[in-house]
Amino acid sequence: MSTLQLPDHLLKSLMEREQKGLLRKLNKNTPAIDFCSNDYLGFSKLGLLTKTLRTTESVEAVPYGSTGSRLISGNSELIESAEKHIALFHHAPSALIFNSGYDANVGLFSCIPQKKDLVLFDELIHASIYDGIRLSHATHYKFKHNNIGSLQELIARHKSSYENIYIAVESVYSMDGDTAPLLEMVDICKMNARTYLMVDEAHAVGVFGKQGRGLCSALNIENKCFARVYTYGKAMGCHGATVVGSEALRNYLINFSRAFIYSTALPGHSIEAITAAYRLLIETNQQEKLQQNIAYFYSRTSGLKNMIKSQSSIHSLIVGNNIRAQELEIIFAKNHICARAIKSPTIKEGTERIRFCLHAYNTKEEIDQLMVLLNVI
Ligand SMILES: Cc1ncc(COP(=O)(O)O)c(C=O)c1O
Repeated sequence: MSTLQLPDHLLKSLMEREQKGLLRKLNKNTPAIDFCSNDYLGFSKLGLLTKTLRTTESVEAVPYGSTGSRLISGNSELIESAEKHIALFHHAPSALIFNSGYDANVGLFSCIPQKKDLVLFDELIHASIYDGIRLSHATHYKFKHNNIGSLQELIARHKSSYENIYIAVESVYSMDGDTAPLLEMVDICKMNARTYLMVDEAHAVGVFGKQGRGLCSALNIENKCFARVYTYGKAMGCHGATVVGSEALRNYLINFSRAFIYSTALPGHSIEAITAAYRLLIETNQQEKLQQNIAYFYSRTSGLKNMIKSQSSIHSLIVGNNIRAQELEIIFAKNHICARAIKSPTIKEGTERIRFCLHAYNTKEEIDQLMVLLNVI
């Protein structure tokens, strides 16, 4: 048998996926009206980041590779000053950059909750948070999506058995596009000793809050969160992520977060891109354009029975099974519209959907074109 041959049981898993029509494949993007990318503000697609970086003199002087992990040779004045700037922008005492949102969540959730702690997470939490929680030694339970009663019930039932409780949520959910009841969660943390809120703002940064500071900023609860995660692959149009919180949290992560310690630091060009993206948040009105499109899309679709209510960039139409979701993706593609089918097992069976992501660069005509299709399918 060739050493390159995949073992039979792995081949069988692939075959089963294929038979169920669920085989994931990498497709090349063809030009189409974009209702699927995460580039909500168009920083990437419109060339805004490229243009800003071209005029950043220091980019030429930055060597491409970071040459090592932050603790060995990959640290620099460039990264540290970017982190200081990010902390100031998000009104936090400190910030620590990770290589991606996936890394930030795994790095954070795997090392903060300890064996005698409890993590309560929303059932729709992103895979990166769940993977992090699983790597920790803490007990963990999910609560019903955005359901304060379900969260309170778990806290009441378990709080006497654990030392600390961590509540893990997204401010905007990546599949439903709805927002977490963060104010109530802050109150819950206030009422229960040693209970901490951790918020992933991946889909809120650039979309909500003054100059796109995120939903915690819009709700004025930035300093009520134990940790917040901002990712740069979505509205910010580039790559990487930051955990913001106390100086002690930063110090703890530098010492115990394996995703941070054992990985080569982001190259200087990525740090320059992140800094440029923050500049664009302040200097452009892309957020306003995005908000206008969200409002227009919402006004056109709010009557659709199976559309999940959302004020964010993400809007999902539930169709209830994988086959229909796939069919719709193909119909949209044939009409030069890119909108992705989101299928189980990525999401719960029965909630299969077609997801529309809105952008600052979508036009009313594009949204109208989408509506024509939505009215005939
Ligand atoms: C809520 C949420 N957190 C984290 C991530 C991961 O971020 P990144 O793509 O930067 O790894 C994603 C990406 O899909 C996400 O939706």
